[in-house]
Amino acid sequence: MTPQRRYEIDDFAFVGRTLAEYRRMFDLDVEALAGRRVLDCPAGPCSFVAEARDRGVRAVGVDAMYGRSPAALARLATEDAARATAALDGVEDLYRWEFYEDVAELETYRHRAASRFLRDYARHGGRYVGATLPELPFPDDAFETVLSAHLLFLYDDRLSPEFHLDTVRELLRVGEEVRVFPLHGFDAERSKLVAVVVDALRADGHAVETRTVPFEFQRGANEMLVVG
Ligand SMILES: C[S@@+](CC[C@H](N)C(=O)[O-])C[C@H]1O[C@@H](n2cnc3c(N)ncnc32)[C@H](O)[C@@H]1O
Repeated sequence: MTPQRRYEIDDFAFVGRTLAEYRRMFDLDVEALAGRRVLDCPAGPCSFVAEARDRGVRAVGVDAMYGRSPAALARLATEDAARATAALDGVEDLYRWEFYEDVAELETYRHRAASRFLRDYARHGGRYVGATLPELPFPDDAFETVLSAHLLFLYDDRLSPEFHLDTVRELLRVGEEVRVFPLHGFDAERSKLVAVVVDALRADGHAVETRTVPFEFQRGANEMLVVG
């Protein structure tokens, strides 16, 4: 039997997206979020917090890597962006090259996100909180909206069902509405853990839905989970 082809990367890549990508991945009306408290978790070297702050959103980012110096995070972001791009070699066909025309354009987005993040992290460290899921150092209902991209479900080969459930429950403790993207793992299949999480959250009494979003890079991965 031929082994299934998949994108392979060690650890959790410290790579980030821009506000333009988050708008589509989470089908966000960013202007409507002005004045609202929004958590990006994990945020990595994303420029969402910096760009959303420019638009009046009270955005905060959390990541396990925060707390390190700007220089250390700059090194990590550069190394991991290179690792993430190299891992695409030979599996480019698992992705749709529409939003990003090619690998060079993808790299431009990653670089733009990281440099904007690094400037903001150095100037406004208070917006960036170092914490390790599934625990967050915030009181209940600290945020109206929580965005969680490219950790849950994507890394389902190394994060247990318990980690997924504990994390989503923690995100729901600190936020009114939680959005998770994507719902696919690196094997380009919808994660089997989506059904496990949806069933458990419904049993907890939450309203849960999957919504199609106007973004698809991994083939088929154009849905987010919305939990309230
Ligand atoms: C692929 S990045 C995603 C960043 C961003 N959400 C995005 O979509 O571009 C994954 C991030 O998860 C962080 N991470 C991994 N495990 C974590 C944990 N247990 N708690 C907090 N952050 C974690 C990593 O440091 C990394 O920055």
